[in-house]
This record gives sequence, structure tokens and C-alpha cells, in this order.
Amino acid sequence: MAEKLHIIPHQHAISKEDRERQNGHKGHVLWFTGLSGSGKSTVASAVERELHQKGIRTFILDGDNVRTGLNSDLDFSAASREENIRRIAHVSALMKDAGLVVLSAFVSPYQKDRDFVRECVQGDFSEIFISTPLEVCEQRDVKGLYAKARAGEISNFTGISAPFEEPTNPELDVPTHKMSIEEATAMVVDYINTKIALDQ
Ligand SMILES: Nc1ncnc2c1ncn2[C@@H]1O[C@H](COP(=O)(O)OP(=O)(O)OP(=O)(O)O)[C@@H](O)[C@H]1O
Ligand SMILES: [Mg+2]
Repeated sequence: MAEKLHIIPHQHAISKEDRERQNGHKGHVLWFTGLSGSGKSTVASAVERELHQKGIRTFILDGDNVRTGLNSDLDFSAASREENIRRIAHVSALMKDAGLVVLSAFVSPYQKDRDFVRECVQGDFSEIFISTPLEVCEQRDVKGLYAKARAGEISNFTGISAPFEEPTNPELDVPTHKMSIEEATAMVVDYINTKIALDQ
């Protein structure tokens, strides 16, 4: 067994409330989950634009972007997917603690991983299920990945050869196949505004 590490975190002077007062809003993690092509990045990006215009401090953590840097050592096996989400959970929590509204857009197909994120973030967390069905995602096939997965060129592809566990109790369900991008965006913006307002 590894040697016991003696880690004693320092208590810093600036509190969560100090940051909220300075920013004029609370920090929060909006965790977008859904199949590839469901609209996570599209909606998160449009939501961020609106929030940014209103002076809200935001940051997007997005699947492929994180996988090219922080998590470039990970593949798509179940173990790597779990480690991928574990690291992002901690980064999301740190950014929320810094006072930001964090928009995290990851397929995150396993309920236990999403539950881990919720636990890790400790409050001010919302699971946003982008509930576009597989047929619609596959028809959109934005990145051409469904065709490749069907042809057997990609293994462990969520929805085709790897499972997607639908959220059991998401804070918000956004069925993008039944609404425009603008409507989906407004739905999330209206929701988050109630969560980050001070004095409540
Ligand atoms: N109502 C809608 N809301 C969101 N996206 C929509 C809607 N209608 C059509 N689309 C289209 O669906 C596609 C969604 O792709 P997007 O890249 O956002 O998915 P994703 O969930 O981020 O996928 P991935 O997991 O592969 O990154 C975009 O091309 C977008 O224009
Ligand atoms: Mg995306």
C-alpha cells in the first residue's frame, strides 16, 4: 500500500459569500447529459452567450475540448469514462467555488458517474437532461460518428454499442426534438436565473 500522505488543507480568507457579492450571482454547475448529437454543446453555448451578455460569469467545459488536454490520456472504455467524469467533476466544483456558472457538456452515460458529480460539487448543481431520442440524434449525425459506429468503425459508441442510462431524476428535461434551439435555450436560461439570484 502507498505511504500515508499527510494532507491538511489551508483555510483561505475569501469566502463563498464574498465571491457571490463581488460577482452579483451564485456559482452553479449545469451538468448537460445526453446522447451525442442531442444538443448539449449547442444549447450550452447559446445559454452561455445569453448569460455572458447579462454580466454573469460563466465557463463551458465540453467533452472533446477536455479530452484534447486534461484528459487526453483517456479512451472510451467504461473505466476511462469514469475517470474522465471524475476529473471533470472536480474541475467543475473548483470553478463553481470560484463563483462561476459552469456549463459542463458531457455524454456522461452512467447514472452512478452523474451521481458522483452531484456529490462532488456539493450543492448548486443541476442535471440537465438533453433528452433527444437516438433516432433523431442519429439522423442529425453532426459528426458522422453514428454512421461510423453502425459500420463497426467505432467501438463503445453510446447508444449503439455502449449504454446510455437516462437520468432518473434530472432537475430539467430539455426535449430538443420538440422545440427550437431558441426555445431550448430560453428554458435553461429561465431555470438557471432562479438558481443563481442572490437574496433567496
Ligand atoms: N432544438 C434544438 N436544440 C439543440 N440542437 C438542435 C436543435 N435542433 C437541431 N439541433 C442541431 O442538433 C445538433 C446538436 O449537436 P451538438 O454538437 O450540440 O450535440 P452534442 O450533444 O454536443 O453532441 P456530442 O456529445 O457529440 O458533443 C446541432 O447540429 C444543432 O444545430
Ligand atoms: Mg458536444
